[in-house]
Amino acid sequence: MRDYSIALIPGDGIGVDVIREGRKVLEAVCEIDGGLKFDYTEFDWSCEHYARHGKMMPDDGLERLRGFDSIYLGAVGYPGVPDHVSLWGLLLPIRRAFRQYINIRPVKLLRGIRSPLAGRSAEDLDFIVIRENNEGEYSSMGGRMYEGTPLDMAIQNSVFTRTGVERVLRYAFRLAQANGKRNRLTSATKSNGINHTMPFWDEYVGRITAEYPGVEVSNVHIDALCAFFVTKPDTFDVVVASNLFGDILTDLGAAIVGGLGIAPSANINPEKEFPSMFEPVHGSAPDIAGKGIANPIAAIWCVSMMLEHLGEAEAAKAVLEAVQDVLEEGQVLTPDLGGKASTRDVGDHICRKLRLAA
Ligand code: NAI
Ligand code: MG
Repeated sequence: MRDYSIALIPGDGIGVDVIREGRKVLEAVCEIDGGLKFDYTEFDWSCEHYARHGKMMPDDGLERLRGFDSIYLGAVGYPGVPDHVSLWGLLLPIRRAFRQYINIRPVKLLRGIRSPLAGRSAEDLDFIVIRENNEGEYSSMGGRMYEGTPLDMAIQNSVFTRTGVERVLRYAFRLAQANGKRNRLTSATKSNGINHTMPFWDEYVGRITAEYPGVEVSNVHIDALCAFFVTKPDTFDVVVASNLFGDILTDLGAAIVGGLGIAPSANINPEKEFPSMFEPVHGSAPDIAGKGIANPIAAIWCVSMMLEHLGEAEAAKAVLEAVQDVLEEGQVLTPDLGGKASTRDVGDHICRKLRLAA
């Protein structure tokens, strides 16, 4: 028996709805493959937890997660709790403590989705963004002074370390090298305006280039890169970016391949010393929370990425194929994709397609 332990953190808002569907899909996968088994432990860590206990997760939260094979998370954040509190109280500590320094975000047009970019097909839109996930602009260094006075001020420092930059770059280089298509790596920079950390980043790109002779590297300023995502998305294979640049870039990446309802992400600890975490790119979507209409496909694609990471490549592929069958058929879709179906309907239908294909 291939037996995996999964920590479920549905979180807030639509996180709860989409994780339920993802788990349903995992159960369907196990039904089909009798040798595969998942044990789930659910944690109610969320903004509601914060309202009751004054913290997003208990003090020993990280300790309790450490032993799992994977973490499957919905979204955290809800009106009433400031976003920096929910983020720094749960998501960022997990990413950092478990050295999930790679954030993988595929920008891939699935079968059945029409890109808002005119004339673009699946062939043009198929690349991967690797976002640095542990340091960079999202650092806790800085402070606020003279609040409530005319001298009110804030400073936030960026942190770029040799270790942090080299490991994310090497991961991206390896991926570009393994990607037989064109072995192209695009590095997001802004070394004209940000004159310490970005030249530092570029310098390591240059040094590491020598270790990967087959990879064709280009350094592109982040503003121009945003424009190129729209005007020439077909030229990318692997894009590597710092924490903030990668965050912004991947919402745009999501938009050109069908929106946040579809976009998945994986927070990876490549050494597998700690659990990796799989979560949709989207947040808790308070505007549609409780309506039962959130698109579960982003969360279900995450299930596919989790299976892949666990070494269950066949199941991973089957899940993504079932998702694409449902998209292509176009009958059971949530409103963000122009349909009328509920979150549950879509989850159920994907399970049906999975069983049909088995
Ligand atoms: P959001 O992603 O929650 O929503 C943005 C827009 O996309 C909304 O109009 C929403 O209805 C729509 N949308 C998102 N996911 C969807 C889905 N699965 N199906 C259909 N429509 C979907 O981002 P927003 O509004 O900026 O943030 C809301 C809360 O979520 C905030 O508290 C924020 O801090 C938190 N957040 C948490 C994240 C996480 O836990 N990883 C990531 C992003 C935001
Ligand atoms: Mg984001």
